[in-house]
Amino acid sequence: MKKGFFITIEGPDGAGKTSLLDNLMPALRDIFGDNLIETREPGGVKISEAIRKIVLGLKYPEMNRRTEALLFAAARAQHMVEKIEPALADGKIVLSDRFVDSSIAYQGGGRELGIEAVGEINNFATNGLQPNLTLLLDLPSEVGIARIMKHRSDEVNRLDKDRLVFHKKVRQTYLQLAKDQPNRIKVLDATQSPEKIAINALQLIQESLKGWI
Ligand code: TYD
Repeated sequence: MKKGFFITIEGPDGAGKTSLLDNLMPALRDIFGDNLIETREPGGVKISEAIRKIVLGLKYPEMNRRTEALLFAAARAQHMVEKIEPALADGKIVLSDRFVDSSIAYQGGGRELGIEAVGEINNFATNGLQPNLTLLLDLPSEVGIARIMKHRSDEVNRLDKDRLVFHKKVRQTYLQLAKDQPNRIKVLDATQSPEKIAINALQLIQESLKGWI
């Protein structure tokens, strides 16, 4: 039986993941129809969407960074067994908006828990499953932050400065991962137009599927 193909989309906040998906998905749905399964993290299944509310909501500002890392991993473990693994076993193409690399970049790099420690808990959560292809949207942190702040008119404050430092750590960690795993992680220049990024992304997906089909 044919094994499935696992694609993930990654990038720091403001990199334009959402608009890439808006541009890319119609083309992918046309090509792959029912063979394409779309999902996202944190979330994708009931338990993981419930964890998403806890970990991303504003209700628990006291949340420790280790708790945060474990919650993302816990959401991922359930998402894996309930949705990703069965679809891959069924020979589907699974496309997830974020996966383990997000935890390594945000919790490992951004929150400074370390690539290794966060990698280990995620290995446990996923039983070592790796995407076949990861598209990483990359852009200078100043540009990413400016995009996030576009609708804000107040002055840049101390928190925003912290935000820039955090964003830079996330970006650097993503780029390190891409450097270490060039066969799996393909970097896309996210300062290009959304149309151009979607064309490049589709090309990379098709190239990488050549060996699989
Ligand atoms: P996402 O839903 O992709 O939001 P956005 O479209 O605004 O990027 O991700 C929500 C946030 O969760 C985002 O800031 C990244 C963060 N995140 C982590 O810190 N670790 C993780 O493992 C995942 C999956 C997401």
